[in-house]
Amino acid sequence: MIVGVIGSGSIGPDLAYGFVSAIAKDGGKVYLHDIRQEALDAGLARIRGYVFKALSRGKLSEKAAKAVEKALVPTLRAEDLAECEYVLEAATEDLPIKRRILANVERIVRPDCLIGFATSGIPRAEIARDAVHPERCFVNHPFYPAWRSPPVEVVGSEDAALTARMVATLERLGKVPIITADVECFAADDIFCNYVSEAARIVQEGLATAAQVDAIVHDAIAGGGPLNVMDLTRGNLLTKHCQELMRDAKTGSAWFEPPSILAEVGNGLWHNPKARGDGRYTPELAQLVLDRILAVLFARTLFVADNNICAPADLDWLSRMSLGFRAGPSELG
Ligand SMILES: NC(=O)c1ccc[n+]([C@@H]2O[C@H](COP(=O)([O-])OP(=O)(O)OC[C@H]3O[C@@H](n4cnc5c(N)ncnc54)[C@H](O)[C@@H]3O)[C@@H](O)[C@H]2O)c1
Repeated sequence: MIVGVIGSGSIGPDLAYGFVSAIAKDGGKVYLHDIRQEALDAGLARIRGYVFKALSRGKLSEKAAKAVEKALVPTLRAEDLAECEYVLEAATEDLPIKRRILANVERIVRPDCLIGFATSGIPRAEIARDAVHPERCFVNHPFYPAWRSPPVEVVGSEDAALTARMVATLERLGKVPIITADVECFAADDIFCNYVSEAARIVQEGLATAAQVDAIVHDAIAGGGPLNVMDLTRGNLLTKHCQELMRDAKTGSAWFEPPSILAEVGNGLWHNPKARGDGRYTPELAQLVLDRILAVLFARTLFVADNNICAPADLDWLSRMSLGFRAGPSELG
């Protein structure tokens, strides 16, 4: 199997490493394409770090590590994707850029090549609006850490046979595809971004510190704490973008307005790694914070279920697997 990943930023190299780990042993190949050499160099260095760690922990044999190294092909040339049977676009989260990349990919790849978009929230219909063959275009929304996190939200196309091939392709690449409707932020990212935004709002209002919010939420439902996850993924600006998508959607309203603190923290960190804040809290503070966080989690879960965005059981599974909650929102007692 020959696969292409476009974009060697935060998530592209992780996706490429996950795919190559699944198919290298069977002679598969994964191209990692970016327009910037420094992005490819950084992506490759990260992947080598993963391989080194897996080797030193005995999770990968020398032979498997060599196969991974051989099967991963970084490239600045989009034309190298011509032999791929699946290309996953994981480039900058910007609609005009995604449409331009799609037009170029359609020009390069074979007629039977499947095309996925790793977008965090832009509907498939928007990205594929001008596609020559929209029926082979799919949302394939992955989760952090993408090299080992199994779930991928998939928005299918009008062609059932191609959608089935898309699902089977992701399964061969070691993923667990979950079908969702074509709405802004799909299922899990709707819940996740609104949950993070509420946590950020609580800090912005001065109700609790980032350290307290993370401690309270993690102690209650696990998941590492919403703002810790933002630090791990550098996800503040992506979350802001997703909130804006949901605000401007047909079902949107001013309620989704992202708190300004998301942009203020931006690419920075909520927690100083050298001097973490004091996360201790009183039962009264925990109650105040949890009332607000759980209200958002339950409200967005109901929205996703009521609007048939994905099956409720899938949503619970997604919340456990991709958000790390100890139980799905509809299972939380
Ligand atoms: N970061 C995450 O945790 C995460 C999680 C789920 C989904 N996503 C989605 O994955 C996509 C990538 O996100 P990211 O955080 O890695 O972005 P990023 O900004 O870190 O990286 C984007 C990369 O795309 C490259 N790029 C831009 N235009 C290109 C082009 N024309 N051809 C090839 N490469 C090009 C850039 O040089 C850059 O290296 C986005 O759509 C995002 O919503 C990200």
